[in-house]
Amino acid sequence: MSQADPGSVLVAGGAGYIGSHVSKALAIAGYHPVVLDNLSTGNAAHVVDFPLIHADIADTGRVVSLIREHKIRALLHFAASIQVEESVRFPLDYYENNVCRTLRLLRTCSKNGVRTVVFSSTAAVYGSPEKLPVSEDAALNPINPYGRSKMMVEMMLKDMAAALPDFHFAALRYFNVAGADRGGRIGQSYPKATHLITLALRTALGLRPELVIFGTDYATADGTAVRDYIDIEDIAFLHVRALDALFERPRNLVLNCGYGHGFSVNEVVQTVKRVTGIDFPVHETGRRPGDPPVLVADSSRAKNELNWTPMHDKLEEIIRAAWEWERKLHSMKAIQ
Ligand code: UFG
Repeated sequence: MSQADPGSVLVAGGAGYIGSHVSKALAIAGYHPVVLDNLSTGNAAHVVDFPLIHADIADTGRVVSLIREHKIRALLHFAASIQVEESVRFPLDYYENNVCRTLRLLRTCSKNGVRTVVFSSTAAVYGSPEKLPVSEDAALNPINPYGRSKMMVEMMLKDMAAALPDFHFAALRYFNVAGADRGGRIGQSYPKATHLITLALRTALGLRPELVIFGTDYATADGTAVRDYIDIEDIAFLHVRALDALFERPRNLVLNCGYGHGFSVNEVVQTVKRVTGIDFPVHETGRRPGDPPVLVADSSRAKNELNWTPMHDKLEEIIRAAWEWERKLHSMKAIQ
């Protein structure tokens, strides 16, 4: 490693949607990402330029050997189950996967000298915040097992930082991540994805008969739930910035990753129809278990701490990028 070379970093879950975009951004910034993924939901085709170790994060032997082989300096941890509604039905799977396995990974990393961690956290740790936009100082009150599992890992990280003077972390609390790489090489490719924008686009493509809107009786302007949609390229950039920040001035950071304004499910659906030019069927039904009514970020801390200026703060642009990707993905599948 030369003086200008920032070295190798372990990207756990780097074959997934967010992890693959972050790996790409890390490589552009000069880091050497080494991806560890069990490919349960990730896609090996999204890890073309970096080593991919096909193993589980809890496989201590494999993790130790890759840390040594690649001289890993930091961990970026994306490997987790992420569906709110699923977490309500299968809570123990979420605690097992997101908490127990993460504990093992953190222990292995820490024992082997990797004590800089960037962690994928979530706005779900806030539950249904009283004050909006929600700041990082708000009380953590998650309302579903997914959010609780992520909060538990944040607590572990804080405790490790208190116990170990050279352990530092950034917990990035994502709001609703959407969009795709503007180079057209990677995007959301998980066939069972449940996120609103992806499902609306797949409905526009005719892959699904209708889009279901979960809940029209929320106390919001049009009765549907409101979320803060942030572009995947901004998310990727925030990870690189956070990692740089931990190396430049070791400290602990907890940062909201959102734009600070929300759109209702109805507004998203209308925007998808406008961008695609396709008027697909929509069916309204009851609320989805575990969903909060409104989640919008106060993102001033990320802007100040990381000197961040959002690049793609426009819902229409995010949806257009995701649309390009979905069309490409679908046409590739049609050819195969
Ligand atoms: N929705 C629908 N129909 C669908 C899919 C979603 O109406 O087919 C609604 C949901 O009920 C919710 C909103 O669209 O009100 C957004 O739902 P997503 O599934 O797209 O995303 P979530 O808000 O449930 O969760 C996402 C991430 C979490 C993160 C959260 C933060 O998956 O990790 O955003 O806001 F915590």
